[in-house]
Amino acid sequence: MIDQLDDIEARVSAALDQAVDLEQLEEWRRATIGRKGEVQLLTRRMGEIGPADRPAFGKRINEIKASLQVAFEARQEALKRSAHDNDDDDRLDVTLPGRRPTLGGLHPSTLVMRRIERIFGDMGFQTYRSPDVVTDQLNFGDLNMPPDHPARDMQDTFYTTDPSVVLRTHTSGGQILAMQEQYPAPVRVILPGMCYRNEQITSRSEIQFHQIEGLAVGPAITFADLKGTLTEFARRLFGEGRGARFRASYFPFTEPSAEMDIACFLCDGEGCQLCKETGWLEILGCGMVHPTVLWNGGYDPEEWSGFAFGMGPERIAMLRHGIRDIRYFWSNDLRFLRQFQRFV
Ligand code: DAH
Repeated sequence: MIDQLDDIEARVSAALDQAVDLEQLEEWRRATIGRKGEVQLLTRRMGEIGPADRPAFGKRINEIKASLQVAFEARQEALKRSAHDNDDDDRLDVTLPGRRPTLGGLHPSTLVMRRIERIFGDMGFQTYRSPDVVTDQLNFGDLNMPPDHPARDMQDTFYTTDPSVVLRTHTSGGQILAMQEQYPAPVRVILPGMCYRNEQITSRSEIQFHQIEGLAVGPAITFADLKGTLTEFARRLFGEGRGARFRASYFPFTEPSAEMDIACFLCDGEGCQLCKETGWLEILGCGMVHPTVLWNGGYDPEEWSGFAFGMGPERIAMLRHGIRDIRYFWSNDLRFLRQFQRFV
């Protein structure tokens, strides 16, 4: 009886080699090592054998089952592989031209901001992040704008459920945090970030927009440092030879304060619609850090001085590219966004 097992194994193995596709292989499995297959059912024939031979008989059956299982899996693997190789759909035609990958692009605001960060980075300014949600104190109070200060009217503010916590209306509060974090000077940072104002959305004003704040503090920083740094910045951003000027202005957190203009891109100073016939485009506000602000940042104004500036990258991009409506920036219209592979 045990001898018969060898014959069965040989026959079943030969049948396995005959299976030429996965379907036939499955048929073979069902007929042999499957639950009701011939090999599986051999165990039932134990009864036909004398008790003395039973252990050897059982052991032999188990060996056969195990080796057939291994052979089955190997055959299955081989058939699967050759099925795949013969599948016309999957075959690789190396002569076909490649598919052009669709490349995304950076948002124009990101492009301008990176350019600006890079320029200041090259001049030794570190990029610093400050939070979007801040106390009323940081956004206004620490910047020399007490609750009844008239300058607060210029900024319609988004308040949170806690009236002492606001969405920042400008990045200037970050100056205080940067000074507090970095003592003693030199402090040389720029602070890019989103700002929020509760305004009517029009072609000229959005409820959110970016600003890039800048701050330098040291033992003997003067207005000449401010002018030199910002003039060099404008030269690197807009190119050699674009005229620039500083105009006296007012901000509560700087004294003296100024605004920087550059010669109009469109008319080069002649006067046109873009520059409202002035020949100049305002690109940023700046000034010497007010003594009170230095003090609030932990710097004694008797010992230290500094300059600060703030600019709007969307505004700069609009002037640079003649974009007439600020709403394009957040409307996600690909026809607009696609035009900006790089700034300038
Ligand atoms: N915070 C001002 C604004 O939102 C911009 C500004 C002006 C920032 C002068 C400054 C500065 O740091 O010195 O319009």
